[in-house]
Amino acid sequence: MPQSRLIVASDPITSALDLWLEAYRDALASGRRFAVGLAGGRTPEALYRRLAVEPLDWGRIEVFLGDERAVPPDDPQSNWGMIERVLLDPVSAPVENLYRPRGEADDLAAAAAEYARIMEGMLPMAASGAPVLDLLLLGLGSDGHTASLFPGSRALSVSDRWYVSAAGPSQVEPRLTITYPVIEAARAVCVLVFGESKAGILSQVLQGEPSLPAAPLRDWPNVIWLTDEEAAREVATAPGLLDIERR
Ligand code: 6PG
Repeated sequence: MPQSRLIVASDPITSALDLWLEAYRDALASGRRFAVGLAGGRTPEALYRRLAVEPLDWGRIEVFLGDERAVPPDDPQSNWGMIERVLLDPVSAPVENLYRPRGEADDLAAAAAEYARIMEGMLPMAASGAPVLDLLLLGLGSDGHTASLFPGSRALSVSDRWYVSAAGPSQVEPRLTITYPVIEAARAVCVLVFGESKAGILSQVLQGEPSLPAAPLRDWPNVIWLTDEEAAREVATAPGLLDIERR
């Protein structure tokens, strides 16, 4: 029986915000700073815009990024650049709390290793040795990737490093990405999957199609698939698959 949870939300951005606030409050109530790994792509932008007007204590939030393209932060393709424009600049997040992977580096492997060391230095460690985020946001690509863990990528087999450089989908655009151990170690993971275009791939992932990089996440109890009705349209509710929680 898969261990992750599937939530189908009538207002998915508000539900995502509620999950963020729950993890944020848990961290602060435990005396920790809130360490969050953000996602790139288009889906999370609406959530970031909502967070930009939430009364949060950004002095106690440490911001990491799940993956980045091999571009500088001012490039339109940069995940960090989008997050900076939509969220970090509007809330004037203290720069000392922001940990940006250096996509512009000539040596991406060295930049990935440098980022992994930063995560190790700033975050508690799981039994696996992986750094522990309080919350990790992820998306789901049309090919079943999450973060920049793409089908066939050598990053999929990495178990002893936390951040690596890896080829992108076209084998042309290299990426920087967290690895599975960091996803599995996070206290909470929220995979944001919205819209009819994701219905097919979400169904395949939740049925455990082994060729899809997001599939292992369905068996991890820290993972929540946060979807809307359109994206969940094809999710089979056969026994043994995930129960659907509606909100
Ligand atoms: C990226 C993201 C990637 C994204 C998925 C979904 O760098 O593009 O990290 O993993 O989350 O591709 O993208 P959308 O949200 O745009 O559908």
